[in-house]
Amino acid sequence: MSEEQAKVPQHVAVIMDGNGRWAKARGWPRLKGHQEGANSLRAILRACRDHGVKYLTVYAFSSENWVRPKDEVSGLMSLLKTFLRKQEFELHENQVRLRMIGRMEDLPAAVQKELQRVMAATAHYTGHQLILALSYGSREEITNACRQIAREVQAGRLDPEKITPQTIAQHLYLPDVPDPDLLIRTSGEMRISNFLLWQISYAELYVTPVLWPDFREPQFAEALADFARRHRRFGDIQ
Ligand code: IPE
Ligand code: IPE
Ligand code: MG
Repeated sequence: MSEEQAKVPQHVAVIMDGNGRWAKARGWPRLKGHQEGANSLRAILRACRDHGVKYLTVYAFSSENWVRPKDEVSGLMSLLKTFLRKQEFELHENQVRLRMIGRMEDLPAAVQKELQRVMAATAHYTGHQLILALSYGSREEITNACRQIAREVQAGRLDPEKITPQTIAQHLYLPDVPDPDLLIRTSGEMRISNFLLWQISYAELYVTPVLWPDFREPQFAEALADFARRHRRFGDIQ
Protein backbone atom coordinates (compact mmCIF):
# COMPACT_ATOMS: atom_id res chain seq x y z
CA MET A 1 0.00 0.00 0.00
CA SER A 2 1.39 3.41 -0.99
CA GLU A 3 1.74 6.30 1.49
CA GLU A 4 -1.19 8.08 -0.19
CA GLN A 5 -3.50 5.04 0.00
CA ALA A 6 -2.59 4.55 3.63
CA LYS A 7 -3.95 8.04 4.29
CA VAL A 8 -7.41 7.37 2.89
CA PRO A 9 -9.87 7.22 5.81
CA GLN A 10 -11.47 3.84 6.22
CA HIS A 11 -14.62 5.35 7.70
CA VAL A 12 -16.06 8.79 6.94
CA ALA A 13 -19.02 10.16 8.90
CA VAL A 14 -20.98 13.14 7.60
CA ILE A 15 -23.38 15.58 9.22
CA MET A 16 -25.27 16.54 6.07
CA ASP A 17 -26.36 20.04 7.06
CA GLY A 18 -27.60 23.13 5.23
CA ASN A 19 -30.36 21.82 2.96
CA GLY A 20 -32.89 24.34 4.31
CA ARG A 21 -30.56 27.32 3.87
CA TRP A 22 -29.67 26.19 0.36
CA ALA A 23 -33.36 26.19 -0.62
CA LYS A 24 -34.13 29.42 1.23
CA ALA A 25 -31.36 31.24 -0.63
CA ARG A 26 -33.20 30.39 -3.86
CA GLY A 27 -36.67 31.20 -2.53
CA TRP A 28 -37.62 27.53 -2.75
CA PRO A 29 -39.37 25.29 -0.19
CA ARG A 30 -37.06 23.50 2.23
CA LEU A 31 -37.99 20.13 0.78
CA LYS A 32 -36.33 21.10 -2.49
CA GLY A 33 -33.10 21.45 -0.51
CA HIS A 34 -33.57 17.98 0.92
CA GLN A 35 -34.16 16.58 -2.59
CA GLU A 36 -30.96 18.12 -3.87
CA GLY A 37 -29.26 16.86 -0.69
CA ALA A 38 -30.24 13.31 -1.64
CA ASN A 39 -28.37 13.84 -4.93
CA SER A 40 -25.30 14.89 -2.97
CA LEU A 41 -25.54 11.69 -0.96
CA ARG A 42 -25.59 9.66 -4.19
CA ALA A 43 -22.54 11.56 -5.43
CA ILE A 44 -20.61 11.09 -2.18
CA LEU A 45 -21.41 7.39 -2.05
CA ARG A 46 -19.92 7.02 -5.54
CA ALA A 47 -16.93 9.10 -4.49
CA CYS A 48 -16.36 6.75 -1.53
CA ARG A 49 -16.21 3.84 -3.92
CA ASP A 50 -13.79 5.68 -6.22
CA HIS A 51 -11.51 6.86 -3.41
CA GLY A 52 -11.55 3.56 -1.51
CA VAL A 53 -13.46 4.69 1.59
CA LYS A 54 -15.02 1.54 3.00
CA TYR A 55 -17.61 2.91 5.43
CA LEU A 56 -19.81 5.98 4.97
CA THR A 57 -22.10 6.93 7.86
CA VAL A 58 -24.48 9.81 7.21
CA TYR A 59 -26.67 11.72 9.63
CA ALA A 60 -29.95 11.76 7.71
CA PHE A 61 -32.46 12.39 10.53
CA SER A 62 -31.73 13.01 14.20
CA SER A 63 -33.81 12.00 17.19
CA GLU A 64 -34.27 15.77 17.68
CA ASN A 65 -35.49 16.40 14.11
CA TRP A 66 -38.97 15.09 14.97
CA VAL A 67 -39.83 18.54 16.37
CA ARG A 68 -39.76 20.04 12.86
CA PRO A 69 -43.05 21.00 11.15
CA LYS A 70 -45.15 17.94 10.26
CA ASP A 71 -44.99 18.50 6.51
CA GLU A 72 -41.19 18.71 6.55
CA VAL A 73 -40.95 15.48 8.56
CA SER A 74 -43.35 13.63 6.26
CA GLY A 75 -41.59 15.07 3.20
CA LEU A 76 -38.26 13.77 4.51
CA MET A 77 -39.74 10.34 5.22
CA SER A 78 -41.16 9.98 1.74
CA LEU A 79 -37.90 11.25 0.25
CA LEU A 80 -36.12 8.54 2.20
CA LYS A 81 -38.40 5.90 0.74
CA THR A 82 -37.80 7.20 -2.78
CA PHE A 83 -34.06 7.34 -2.14
CA LEU A 84 -34.00 3.68 -1.08
CA ARG A 85 -35.96 2.58 -4.14
CA LYS A 86 -33.88 4.63 -6.58
CA GLN A 87 -30.58 3.71 -4.98
CA GLU A 88 -31.09 -0.02 -4.73
CA PHE A 89 -29.82 -0.82 -8.22
CA GLU A 90 -26.61 1.13 -7.64
CA LEU A 91 -26.06 -0.49 -4.24
CA HIS A 92 -26.13 -3.89 -5.93
CA GLU A 93 -24.04 -2.74 -8.85
CA ASN A 94 -21.28 -1.54 -6.51
CA GLN A 95 -21.82 -4.24 -3.89
CA VAL A 96 -22.59 -1.78 -1.11
CA ARG A 97 -24.18 -3.06 2.08
CA LEU A 98 -26.90 -0.79 3.47
CA ARG A 99 -27.24 -0.57 7.26
CA MET A 100 -28.86 1.79 9.72
CA ILE A 101 -28.35 3.14 13.22
CA GLY A 102 -31.08 4.75 15.29
CA ARG A 103 -34.61 4.01 16.40
CA MET A 104 -35.99 2.07 13.44
CA GLU A 105 -39.31 1.69 15.29
CA ASP A 106 -39.93 5.47 15.15
CA LEU A 107 -40.03 5.48 11.34
CA PRO A 108 -43.28 5.14 9.35
CA ALA A 109 -44.11 1.48 8.60
CA ALA A 110 -43.61 1.90 4.86
CA VAL A 111 -40.11 3.31 5.37
CA GLN A 112 -39.23 0.53 7.82
CA LYS A 113 -40.37 -2.05 5.29
CA GLU A 114 -38.30 -0.55 2.48
CA LEU A 115 -35.25 -0.24 4.73
CA GLN A 116 -35.54 -3.83 5.97
CA ARG A 117 -35.91 -5.06 2.43
CA VAL A 118 -32.87 -3.24 1.03
CA MET A 119 -30.74 -4.03 4.09
CA ALA A 120 -31.56 -7.72 3.79
CA ALA A 121 -30.95 -7.73 0.02
CA THR A 122 -27.48 -6.18 0.44
CA ALA A 123 -26.47 -7.88 3.71
CA HIS A 124 -24.00 -10.21 2.01
CA TYR A 125 -21.84 -7.48 0.46
CA THR A 126 -18.50 -6.99 2.15
CA GLY A 127 -16.83 -4.26 0.04
CA HIS A 128 -18.48 -1.02 1.14
CA GLN A 129 -21.09 -0.01 3.68
CA LEU A 130 -23.55 2.86 3.65
CA ILE A 131 -24.87 3.46 7.16
CA LEU A 132 -27.89 5.73 7.50
CA ALA A 133 -28.40 7.39 10.88
CA LEU A 134 -32.19 7.68 11.16
CA SER A 135 -34.02 8.89 14.24
CA TYR A 136 -30.52 8.65 15.65
CA GLY A 137 -29.22 10.21 18.84
CA SER A 138 -25.89 9.37 20.38
CA ARG A 139 -26.94 9.88 23.99
CA GLU A 140 -29.78 7.47 23.43
CA GLU A 141 -27.41 4.93 21.85
CA ILE A 142 -25.09 5.14 24.86
CA THR A 143 -28.05 4.99 27.28
CA ASN A 144 -29.27 1.79 25.59
CA ALA A 145 -25.79 0.31 25.90
CA CYS A 146 -25.76 1.12 29.64
CA ARG A 147 -29.17 -0.46 30.07
CA GLN A 148 -28.06 -3.69 28.37
CA ILE A 149 -24.86 -3.83 30.39
CA ALA A 150 -26.84 -3.26 33.62
CA ARG A 151 -29.10 -6.18 32.69
CA GLU A 152 -26.08 -8.45 32.22
CA VAL A 153 -24.72 -7.40 35.61
CA GLN A 154 -28.12 -7.95 37.22
CA ALA A 155 -28.35 -11.43 35.71
CA GLY A 156 -24.92 -12.23 37.18
CA ARG A 157 -23.32 -12.67 33.76
CA LEU A 158 -21.00 -9.68 34.04
CA ASP A 159 -18.75 -8.44 36.84
CA PRO A 160 -18.93 -4.59 37.07
CA GLU A 161 -15.15 -4.54 37.64
CA LYS A 162 -14.73 -6.12 34.20
CA ILE A 163 -16.55 -3.31 32.35
CA THR A 164 -14.09 -1.61 30.00
CA PRO A 165 -14.47 0.93 27.17
CA GLN A 166 -14.63 -2.12 24.86
CA THR A 167 -17.66 -3.38 26.78
CA ILE A 168 -19.45 -0.09 26.06
CA ALA A 169 -18.37 -0.12 22.39
CA GLN A 170 -19.65 -3.68 21.99
CA HIS A 171 -23.12 -2.60 23.10
CA LEU A 172 -23.51 0.27 20.63
CA TYR A 173 -25.64 -0.17 17.48
CA LEU A 174 -22.97 -1.56 15.10
CA PRO A 175 -20.09 -2.91 17.19
CA ASP A 176 -18.33 -4.41 14.16
CA VAL A 177 -17.93 -1.05 12.41
CA PRO A 178 -14.62 0.71 13.14
CA ASP A 179 -14.75 4.26 14.53
CA PRO A 180 -14.88 7.09 11.98
CA ASP A 181 -11.48 8.47 10.99
CA LEU A 182 -12.92 11.64 9.53
CA LEU A 183 -16.06 13.59 10.49
CA ILE A 184 -17.30 16.12 7.95
CA ARG A 185 -19.92 18.74 8.77
CA THR A 186 -21.26 20.95 6.01
CA SER A 187 -22.85 24.43 6.32
CA GLY A 188 -20.28 25.77 8.75
CA GLU A 189 -21.87 24.84 12.09
CA MET A 190 -19.21 24.03 14.67
CA ARG A 191 -21.16 21.44 16.60
CA ILE A 192 -21.78 17.72 16.82
CA SER A 193 -25.58 17.76 17.36
CA ASN A 194 -25.65 14.43 19.24
CA PHE A 195 -23.90 12.41 16.50
CA LEU A 196 -21.62 9.44 17.31
CA LEU A 197 -20.28 11.02 20.51
CA TRP A 198 -18.49 7.88 21.62
CA GLN A 199 -17.20 6.83 18.21
CA ILE A 200 -15.65 10.18 17.18
CA SER A 201 -13.29 10.40 20.18
CA TYR A 202 -10.28 10.43 17.85
CA ALA A 203 -11.86 11.39 14.52
CA GLU A 204 -10.37 14.25 12.55
CA LEU A 205 -12.93 17.05 12.24
CA TYR A 206 -13.56 18.87 8.98
CA VAL A 207 -16.10 21.69 8.86
CA THR A 208 -16.82 23.38 5.55
CA PRO A 209 -19.10 26.37 4.87
CA VAL A 210 -20.38 24.59 1.73
CA LEU A 211 -24.07 23.69 2.11
CA TRP A 212 -24.84 19.99 1.74
CA PRO A 213 -26.68 20.21 -1.64
CA ASP A 214 -23.53 21.85 -3.08
CA PHE A 215 -21.18 19.28 -1.53
CA ARG A 216 -20.14 16.93 -4.34
CA GLU A 217 -17.08 14.91 -5.40
CA PRO A 218 -14.64 17.86 -5.72
CA GLN A 219 -15.53 19.09 -2.20
CA PHE A 220 -15.26 15.54 -0.86
CA ALA A 221 -11.88 15.06 -2.56
CA GLU A 222 -10.72 18.30 -0.86
CA ALA A 223 -11.82 16.94 2.54
CA LEU A 224 -9.89 13.72 1.89
CA ALA A 225 -6.81 15.71 0.81
CA ASP A 226 -7.05 17.74 4.02
CA PHE A 227 -7.31 14.52 6.02
CA ALA A 228 -4.24 13.11 4.28
CA ARG A 229 -2.24 16.14 5.48
CA ARG A 230 -3.27 15.66 9.12
CA HIS A 231 -0.97 14.08 11.63
CA ARG A 232 -2.89 11.83 14.00
CA ARG A 233 -1.03 11.43 17.25
CA PHE A 234 -3.53 9.52 19.44
CA GLY A 235 -1.98 11.03 22.55
CA ASP A 236 1.59 10.21 21.57
CA ILE A 237 4.26 12.89 20.99
CA GLN A 238 5.16 12.37 17.35
C1 IPE B 1 -29.93 18.95 7.09
O1 IPE B 1 -30.34 20.17 6.58
C2 IPE B 1 -30.92 17.85 6.83
C3 IPE B 1 -31.67 17.40 8.01
C4 IPE B 1 -31.47 17.81 9.25
C5 IPE B 1 -32.72 16.42 7.79
P1 IPE B 1 -31.23 21.14 7.42
O2 IPE B 1 -32.66 20.86 7.13
O3 IPE B 1 -30.87 21.12 8.86
O4 IPE B 1 -30.82 22.55 6.78
P2 IPE B 1 -30.62 23.92 7.54
O5 IPE B 1 -29.65 23.68 8.66
O6 IPE B 1 -31.96 24.36 8.03
O7 IPE B 1 -30.07 24.83 6.49
C1 IPE C 1 -28.02 17.66 12.37
O1 IPE C 1 -28.48 18.79 11.73
C2 IPE C 1 -28.87 16.48 12.00
C3 IPE C 1 -28.79 16.06 10.60
C4 IPE C 1 -27.95 16.52 9.71
C5 IPE C 1 -29.69 15.01 10.23
P1 IPE C 1 -29.48 19.80 12.44
O2 IPE C 1 -29.73 20.90 11.47
O3 IPE C 1 -30.66 19.08 12.96
O4 IPE C 1 -28.60 20.29 13.68
P2 IPE C 1 -28.75 21.58 14.60
O5 IPE C 1 -30.18 21.63 15.04
O6 IPE C 1 -28.39 22.76 13.75
O7 IPE C 1 -27.77 21.36 15.71
MG1 MG D 1 -29.53 22.15 9.98
